[in-house]
Amino acid sequence: MHEPQPKPQANRAPVRAPETDVDRSDPAYRLWLRQAVGQVQADANRSADTHLLSIPLPADWGVDLYLKDESTHPTGSLKHRLARSLFLYALCNGWIRPGRPVIEASSGSTAVSEAYFARLIGVPFVAVMARGTVRAKIDLIELHGGRCHLVEDPGQVYEAATRLAAETGGHYMDQFTYAERATDWRGNNNIAESIFRQLAAERHPVPTWIVATAGTGGTSATIARYVRYAQATTGICVADPENSAFFPSWRDHDPTATTPTGSRIEGIGRQRVEPSFVPGAIDRMMRVPDAASIACVRVLERLLGRRAGASTGTGLWAAFRIVAEMRSRGERGSVVGLLCDPGERYLEKYYADAWLTAQGIDIAPYMRRVERFLVTGELEPVG
Ligand SMILES: Cc1ncc(COP(=O)(O)O)c(C=O)c1O
Repeated sequence: MHEPQPKPQANRAPVRAPETDVDRSDPAYRLWLRQAVGQVQADANRSADTHLLSIPLPADWGVDLYLKDESTHPTGSLKHRLARSLFLYALCNGWIRPGRPVIEASSGSTAVSEAYFARLIGVPFVAVMARGTVRAKIDLIELHGGRCHLVEDPGQVYEAATRLAAETGGHYMDQFTYAERATDWRGNNNIAESIFRQLAAERHPVPTWIVATAGTGGTSATIARYVRYAQATTGICVADPENSAFFPSWRDHDPTATTPTGSRIEGIGRQRVEPSFVPGAIDRMMRVPDAASIACVRVLERLLGRRAGASTGTGLWAAFRIVAEMRSRGERGSVVGLLCDPGERYLEKYYADAWLTAQGIDIAPYMRRVERFLVTGELEPVG
């Protein structure tokens, strides 16, 4: 026997006490959100992994060097991964709304990638950058449908982005705060998991060192956390350019460290310690002269036939030094660095001798040291 059912009460408004029960469900927004998240995920599904390039060193050294080539992402840099993570994080947090702009403070590479994802989900994008940012990055942001808002002093980007977001009702993405937490550090095909998978068939599949550089600090944090979580013995080294606060802050345990001028190595080195920089997860830091960074990318072109941005050279100098140390101790193993973005973006800077002269940068002594290292395995440290 079935109990008699109460009659459905059609068209009756639900009885709710508004002071104790608030429902802000918005089916139209949730439909838009589902589509936006789906578009970002479908884009990831269409993408291939990046290559782990082998740098030719004499096999009898017993030390192998690799570069994870992040320049082959659709938007040309390691920031493609970050931008995808930041968009998913902000979408799932309800921070990005249909028709409202996404604003970002950037030295350029992140903004190029974010402009791409903003267009993918159909929201406006504004990049707040220092006026000295190379033209090629500005052109790429505009190519992807973004707008550039240039400020005179690199230190002003945070405040200008906050203000623009408030004025437009948009969302300030704030990579410098959220980079370290937006990425799935335990895996999910992050950069570290990919490196370990790609090394699996090598003679030294667990790298002795991975060398990163820091702009937000997010890449080094992601790799370092993954290595620790995977219980690998790998050390994490962060190479830092001149004029950056990360190195003195880490060396002196001083989170308040600042520097008076901005970094000349685009994408890395900050005048303050960014919140996404996770010092406790790093094993070693190395300060790298700008001339050494640029010399290394010039040499890389000869080794691989590929041009890279100068941040790749900063990491490469540190990686060469580590290889030289391992050689001198008779240690065998592998070292991994990152090819962060393509050099074609910087033809007017790091590949232009006139720019080097105007900056007072002499790369010749470092070119000689690197060329000698590639033959002897010995690299004179910075004097
Ligand atoms: C060219 C380039 N290399 C390296 C980095 C460093 O990456 P992260 O922000 O994860 O510290 C950046 C960051 O902007 C970059 O643009």
